[in-house]
Amino acid sequence: MPASTLPARPVPAEPFPVELARRRSAALDAAIREDPGRFRVLTGDRPTGPLHVGHLFGTLLNRVRLQDLGVGVMVLIADYQTITDRDAPESLPSDVLGQVADYLAVGIDPGRAAIFAHSQIEALNQLLIPFLSLVSVAEVGRNPTVKEEFGTAGGSPMSALMFTYPVHQAADILFCHANLVPVGKDQLPHVELTRTIARRFNERYCPAEPYFTAPDALLSDAPLLLGTDGQKMSKSRNNAIALAASEDETARLIRGARTDAQRTITYEPQSRPAVSNLVQLAALCLETAPEQVAAGVGDGGAAALKRLLAEALNERLRPIRARRREVAADPGYLRQVLADGNERARALAAQTLSDVRALMHTSY
Ligand code: TRP
Repeated sequence: MPASTLPARPVPAEPFPVELARRRSAALDAAIREDPGRFRVLTGDRPTGPLHVGHLFGTLLNRVRLQDLGVGVMVLIADYQTITDRDAPESLPSDVLGQVADYLAVGIDPGRAAIFAHSQIEALNQLLIPFLSLVSVAEVGRNPTVKEEFGTAGGSPMSALMFTYPVHQAADILFCHANLVPVGKDQLPHVELTRTIARRFNERYCPAEPYFTAPDALLSDAPLLLGTDGQKMSKSRNNAIALAASEDETARLIRGARTDAQRTITYEPQSRPAVSNLVQLAALCLETAPEQVAAGVGDGGAAALKRLLAEALNERLRPIRARRREVAADPGYLRQVLADGNERARALAAQTLSDVRALMHTSY
């Protein structure tokens, strides 16, 4: 599909035009299937603990799908983002290697995709300096995540690194000229800021021959999974089922999951979020519709739903866990995968920084 038939890009506004982004993402999906080689994807996660089933269904499987379609996939371990609100923990080396193991376990293929840690890519980080010159403090301050941090910091002051992290993310994306960034809708403003930085760099330093391509957000249509307590699933809330968890632990976490007082199981995400979330997760594992799962359990109640879910999830995760055990048993291999990915990222970053220096008249 020629690019001109894509619907217009969302115009940045408040509230964010999610519908438009969704339509554009659908068109992009078609374009990817047509000519995957045109696209480079940058995605990543901060290494703050084991990846969980929310990551799996929310983003990891989509990365593997894009990789298998033939899109170039760059997988970022955002280790510098862990120090936005805390000191670097001693567990970082094992967290990072664990994350590599998680990626390999779900099917990221290091022969095709690059897995790298951004702290190790010197030239990527150096891009932060020119990029910071292209945005105002007020613009960064309007980023919803930054704004929220301002509000919830609760007495503890926000670090300047937290303040600038959307600009750092622009460096994560632009250093490798990624043109697709798979995101949830809460991340759309980050991509928009990256687009602004790309556009301004071009306007300022190379208007006749734009250097950076403004990346597109590829909006995920994956349902948002809640944690076992019915709240947002997150590593820090202790309500997530890790990919690396054992089958017994998985069953135990599901047995302890929050439900409600109504006996009959139904799928009503609005009025019964906790129960519907378990139904949804079972449906994802069984590759069926949530309504069908709910109807199947019916008057069996929460206990029957939990038994079904524990079995379905453990079955779905079995090959992933087997592969994870295999790769995790060989830390030397995990280190090598990361070293290879870092090397590929470094080569791309060095080229970009050298181009940027030339365009900015800072090559001497
Ligand atoms: N912020 C993402 C997370 O919390 C990780 C990340 C860092 C990222 N830089 C990025 C994602 C650039 C997409 C694009 O997991």
